[in-house]
Amino acid sequence: MGTLDGKVVLITGTAGGMGRVAALVFAREGAKVVGSDIQAEANAETVELVRRDGGEMTGVAPFDLSDPEQARQVVEVAAGAYGGLDVVYNNAAYLRFGPMPDFSVEDWRVTMAGELDIPFFVSKFAWPHLVGRGGGVIINVASMAGMIAGAVPPMVGHSVANAGVIAMTRQFALEGAPQGIRAVAISPGPVLTPASERDLGDDQAARDRITAKTLLKRFAHPEEIVELAAFLASDRAAYITGANYAVDGGATAW
Ligand SMILES: NC(=O)c1ccc[n+]([C@@H]2O[C@H](COP(=O)([O-])OP(=O)(O)OC[C@H]3O[C@@H](n4cnc5c(N)ncnc54)[C@H](O)[C@@H]3O)[C@@H](O)[C@H]2O)c1
Repeated sequence: MGTLDGKVVLITGTAGGMGRVAALVFAREGAKVVGSDIQAEANAETVELVRRDGGEMTGVAPFDLSDPEQARQVVEVAAGAYGGLDVVYNNAAYLRFGPMPDFSVEDWRVTMAGELDIPFFVSKFAWPHLVGRGGGVIINVASMAGMIAGAVPPMVGHSVANAGVIAMTRQFALEGAPQGIRAVAISPGPVLTPASERDLGDDQAARDRITAKTLLKRFAHPEEIVELAAFLASDRAAYITGANYAVDGGATAW
């Protein structure tokens, strides 16, 4: 028995990083996973990994979820794949970093589209499907940068957008409660994904700068974020809505 047996879960950004791990963990917990990404090949690899692991997953790629029409199509395909939708896990994002005042108008707009438009569009189009099942769960991946300022690297767009994701979650929770929809945010600290591992290489000084604000002085493993998401998506978390969970090694505790 898995904690997500029988649930249909749309996970965005399943081509790699935390989204790929989420697909594996959710499928292991019994969910039927629909995973979408802008990268088709890597997304297909995730589908293969999940199936080889004995899980159930359908891939929907390539789709650019910052385009509302494509986001709508992904949701329709997802809801059709297993006859409905119970959980939306808004994980996909793209962003730019940069200091003030050099962070350009384009950098700003790209970051807002990548971090705010995607979860809004996907949730907006998924909402009626959740209501059609008598309710459901929306999990939004935000960031500790939505709660405290971040110096490494400078991140005005990222921090503002993620404060927005946390606010969006509260609002979804308020408006969704009468319809049986729960909405929860997870705010990770620095997470070591294959991409960040590759980018950082053996630059220990850079790694130390990034993890300095955590109390545990290390990066999170993707599983340490995703396991919480799986719990929040399950009926065991039935009384949790409107909350934002920091999974940041203590970074926001001081
Ligand atoms: N890695 C970290 O340290 C960290 C920290 C805090 C929050 N987060 C958040 O966690 C989430 C996952 O992070 P990650 O490190 O695994 O990221 P990642 O970049 O490895 O994965 C994001 C996925 O989203 C996909 N994607 C990007 N733009 C898309 C679009 N327009 N349409 C469809 N798919 C698109 C990418 O192709 C990619 O597969 C993101 O929301 C990120 O902001 C990450």
